[in-house]
Amino acid sequence: MVNVTLKEGVNWVGVVDWNIRDFHGYVTSRGTTYNSYLITDQKTALIDTVKHTFANELIEHITKLVSLDKIDYIIVNHVEMDHSSSLPTIAKLAKNAKIIASQRGKEALIEHYGTEFNKVETVKTGDELKLGAKTLRFVEAPMLHWPDSMFTYIVEDKILMPNDAFGQHLASSCRFDDEVDEHVLMEEAAIYYANILMPLAPLITRKIQEIVQMGIPIEMIAPSHGVIWRKDPTKIINAYLNWSAGKSKQKAVIVYDTMWGSTDKMAKAMAEGLISQDIEVKFMKLRASNFTETVTEILDAKAVLVGSPTLNNQMFTTIGAFLTYITGLKPKGKLWSFFGSYGWGGGAVRGMVEMAKKAGFAVVEPSLEVKYVPDAEDLKRCFEVGQQLAVKIKA
Ligand code: FEO
Repeated sequence: MVNVTLKEGVNWVGVVDWNIRDFHGYVTSRGTTYNSYLITDQKTALIDTVKHTFANELIEHITKLVSLDKIDYIIVNHVEMDHSSSLPTIAKLAKNAKIIASQRGKEALIEHYGTEFNKVETVKTGDELKLGAKTLRFVEAPMLHWPDSMFTYIVEDKILMPNDAFGQHLASSCRFDDEVDEHVLMEEAAIYYANILMPLAPLITRKIQEIVQMGIPIEMIAPSHGVIWRKDPTKIINAYLNWSAGKSKQKAVIVYDTMWGSTDKMAKAMAEGLISQDIEVKFMKLRASNFTETVTEILDAKAVLVGSPTLNNQMFTTIGAFLTYITGLKPKGKLWSFFGSYGWGGGAVRGMVEMAKKAGFAVVEPSLEVKYVPDAEDLKRCFEVGQQLAVKIKA
């Protein structure tokens, strides 16, 4: 992979991870990249490093431009190991470099890699570092998405380097948004937002407002994953504002599992009720659909219907795991409806409703339960519940 110039003196020196398909549970069906940037001026700065398995590739890319002992600063925007686990190796080779991070970044570096990172220098929002003609300005972004997170802005080039924010898990031989398929790009940006940043919606809105108020002009957004936004950075900023506001369409997602087909029959009858009222419906049967794509479908839906059979007086384990995941992600502004089948004691629907209420979800009641196999009357009831939910979706 060749180094790519963003603007004169600002180069991408990152790596492409074509083969990763599981990023701590997130299904990365299109791989990812770990983006590092080298800024060469009177002083040289490296912005972030890469996952340790790619350290040699990063070194190769940097040394095409400068030898590592010529690096004056290594800026650590974020300590999660996909961006910092090659830092101990790079720091040894870049022996003249000062390492710069937020205060919590310094603490996290020590906790990850030991007390040799006591020497890290810290910066806070508004601090600047002159490299010569170029100036780096730092903006702390705590909890976006770790306490240590920080953005680096190149003042003269108007390039924002926000690390994970505005990223996409998208491996590509292209480095810029205008070089890749726009639909694929926005799909991956949505998957990324839904599965990583969704619980942080209020913070995202506030941080974007803060940056706007700071009057920082942005010509390019160079995140730490995926391609660089240069064609129209406002497109991804506006998409983040809409997602963070919980904007949805007249769409329902049915997330369910089934043992002998009863819950499946209920799901289909409820879907017919919704569709009869012109609501878009997506079926996400767990064990056929993964959590990553299921959560992404939920991002722009107004309602989520979750169905489970009862097994050992509990919900199915797939549904239990899904609810654990989705309650942690805290999607905003959805209606939640629960349904399921049972043989004798029941328990699945009760358990699901309890979990949802505990998470503060807006649960539409009553829930629907069917004993053993739904008959025509039961299916009519399911259809009607779908219709009634459609009214609420449109309200
Ligand atoms: Fe891409 Fe939070 O690491």
